[in-house]
Amino acid sequence: MKKWKFNSWESFEAKHLPEYNNKKLLDEVKAQISSFPPLIFPGEVEQLKKDLTSASSGKGFILQAGDCAESFTEFNADNIKSTFQIILQMGIILTSAINLPVTKIGRIAGQFAKPRSNKNEIKFNQQLESYKGDIINDVEFDFNKRKPDPSRMLKAYSQAASTLNLLRAYSSGGLADLKNVNKWNMGFINNKASSQRYKNVAIKIKESLEFMNALGINSDNTPQLKEISFYTSHEGLLLPYEESLLRTSQDSKEIYATSAHMIWIGDRTRFKESAHVEFCRGLTNPIGIKCSFNTDIDELLEIIDILNPSNESGKIILIARYGNKLIEKYLPDLIKRVNQEGKNVLWSCDPMHGNTTKSNDGIKTRSFENILNEVKKNFRIHKSEGSIAGGIHLEMTGQNVTECTGGIDNITETNLSLRYHTHCDPRLNASQSIEMAFLIADELINEN
Ligand code: PEP
Ligand code: CO
Repeated sequence: MKKWKFNSWESFEAKHLPEYNNKKLLDEVKAQISSFPPLIFPGEVEQLKKDLTSASSGKGFILQAGDCAESFTEFNADNIKSTFQIILQMGIILTSAINLPVTKIGRIAGQFAKPRSNKNEIKFNQQLESYKGDIINDVEFDFNKRKPDPSRMLKAYSQAASTLNLLRAYSSGGLADLKNVNKWNMGFINNKASSQRYKNVAIKIKESLEFMNALGINSDNTPQLKEISFYTSHEGLLLPYEESLLRTSQDSKEIYATSAHMIWIGDRTRFKESAHVEFCRGLTNPIGIKCSFNTDIDELLEIIDILNPSNESGKIILIARYGNKLIEKYLPDLIKRVNQEGKNVLWSCDPMHGNTTKSNDGIKTRSFENILNEVKKNFRIHKSEGSIAGGIHLEMTGQNVTECTGGIDNITETNLSLRYHTHCDPRLNASQSIEMAFLIADELINEN
């Protein structure tokens, strides 16, 4: 294998990358971002790898959740806060069920680039380049706005930095203090059953805190009770941007993607000669790999070897996204082969991307029931294969959107257009996310 370099990916096949007409501007933008500070730090990545190792051996669980596509227009503190709080609450629900640490990884602060099944979009008899995420072009159906523009990377960097700044403040500045768990706003959860269940969890935590306080342990003297670790992740799709944020650790001389703690390779860019695989080969960060019915298992095993030649644990996360209909057909074989080959991986389940359908009005949606059923099957399959279901990967938001059907509020196809805000795939809303967390918690309890 040839020597890896920051830009060695350029001599491999790069699918789903935009074609920038203005190469000079692209180079200028890359040079600027290369001079900017890193967004994350090596020590945090190493801690995440430890958490992933624990979860892969059943001593923890990974909750990866957030937007399908972050956008420039929906960027504000309220949206970031509500998504953070819902992920925090989902984490609390899962922790209280399994009594094990739950590592929270947001699809946030960098989830801007989207691979699209169709290169072009046709509307009003006009054909334009598809929307590829705010870091590449604009969602508005307009010829000029759909042209890929390198300077959007600067805006994405700045939005990622501000988002991370808030997330870091929320994680350690009091918002995540467990003593406030019963005060966390549940106003947007319309459903009584879910809020009552949540209140019960909060009461249980409050009682434990009172007990610990009697022993002299409280959030004033024990930072773990008021601070959480919150990691970031996104699909490492836009390689010129990712390359510009590579940094070499002063201490270890290892190379880190500093755009996020973890990045993943999507279903459409996972193949052996892929530029994305080549790029990720040089990184110290943990790498997710989406697996679908398209996955050739032999090729996947080779990719795992390329990315993780020393079979380090906490490095590879296999994110299965088969869909409720296909998971039973494909996942067992994948698990068997990975186990036979002795590969260290963390198994995660993405029950979103294999369950996308269209409503009668042509709106992209997903049903809560299909999502839940895939999750249930995932747990059952891992149990029967003797492997560990170590994580879940969800597209959700803290807002009260109407994008996925079903759930306790029983969103119907006709309601979808009420608050359909996503720039790409349909997300679980705040109540659906909380409800899903309770149902996953039930599965985790049953399967153990
Ligand atoms: C995604 O996670 O938003 C995505 C595009 O997933 P996949 O690559 O699995 O289709
Ligand atoms: Co998506």
